[in-house]
Amino acid sequence: MKLEQIRHIGVVGGGVMGGGIAQVHAAGGYRVTIRDISEQIIEDTRQSIVEGKWGVKRAVEKGKMGFDAALQVIDLVGYTTKVEDLADCDLIIEAVPENLELKQKVFEELDKVVKPEAIFTSNTSGIVIQEIAALVSDQRKEQFVGMHFSNPVPVMSMCEVITTPQSSQETIDAVVGVATAAKRAICMVKDTPGTRGFILNRVFAAAAREARKIVEDGIATPEDVDKAMITGRNWPAGFFGARGGIGKQW
Ligand SMILES: NC(=O)c1ccc[n+]([C@@H]2O[C@H](COP(=O)([O-])OP(=O)(O)OC[C@H]3O[C@@H](n4cnc5c(N)ncnc54)[C@H](O)[C@@H]3O)[C@@H](O)[C@H]2O)c1
Repeated sequence: MKLEQIRHIGVVGGGVMGGGIAQVHAAGGYRVTIRDISEQIIEDTRQSIVEGKWGVKRAVEKGKMGFDAALQVIDLVGYTTKVEDLADCDLIIEAVPENLELKQKVFEELDKVVKPEAIFTSNTSGIVIQEIAALVSDQRKEQFVGMHFSNPVPVMSMCEVITTPQSSQETIDAVVGVATAAKRAICMVKDTPGTRGFILNRVFAAAAREARKIVEDGIATPEDVDKAMITGRNWPAGFFGARGGIGKQW
């Protein structure tokens, strides 16, 4: 599937990440359908996109988004509990809980329901993409990449695009194009069996390990480690609970 053929995006899982992912792609001009498993959850997702802390109403009030752009998002995002409503999607972004078996099952079902030429992506924080794609057809494996967003998605623009040896160049180009339309900062990463996490979470985990070691070795207090990172590197939050600026930018 080429970028210009993509019109309709299916977001599977409307939780913390799914709502924000739907919001930025509707802002990027795409029709988006969010699928979750209960009417109550999708109503909560709708509320968070419209009225939530990172939602469009507040974005307009804060001068982050124009009124027409907010209406566009509200208009372009649809909600469903039926997987069949994703059948004509051109691109799927999966954001169900971080559990390999669940993700495999979700994609196995989507592979049967969604049209064969559609691209599949996962917002996993760190599971190997080839493992998530294990139960889809060989053709779909060529149309499969990772798309890892950061929370809260409307504020944090990062999108890691994780490519497997099977991912076709056409698929990669299309996903990069869609993410660019959604104003994402794209970071390309190779899927690597035997590892966990891509760029963001691997680097963060290494820093967190080092911070813990400094405290365990009695070299500095947790408060001073956090203070060093927040005031010396402008990190939005420390490892031990101190917060810098996150939440104040919006
Ligand atoms: N929360 C974060 O900060 C963050 C950041 C980056 C990536 N992620 C990744 O994003 C994914 C989702 O995380 P989250 O924090 O949004 O989780 P969440 O629990 O807030 O949302 C997951 C949603 O998926 C729904 N769901 C479960 N099974 C489903 C199914 N079969 N079909 C459709 N929907 C289903 C749940 O009802 C829930 O609403 C995970 O893989 C996570 O690792 C999370």
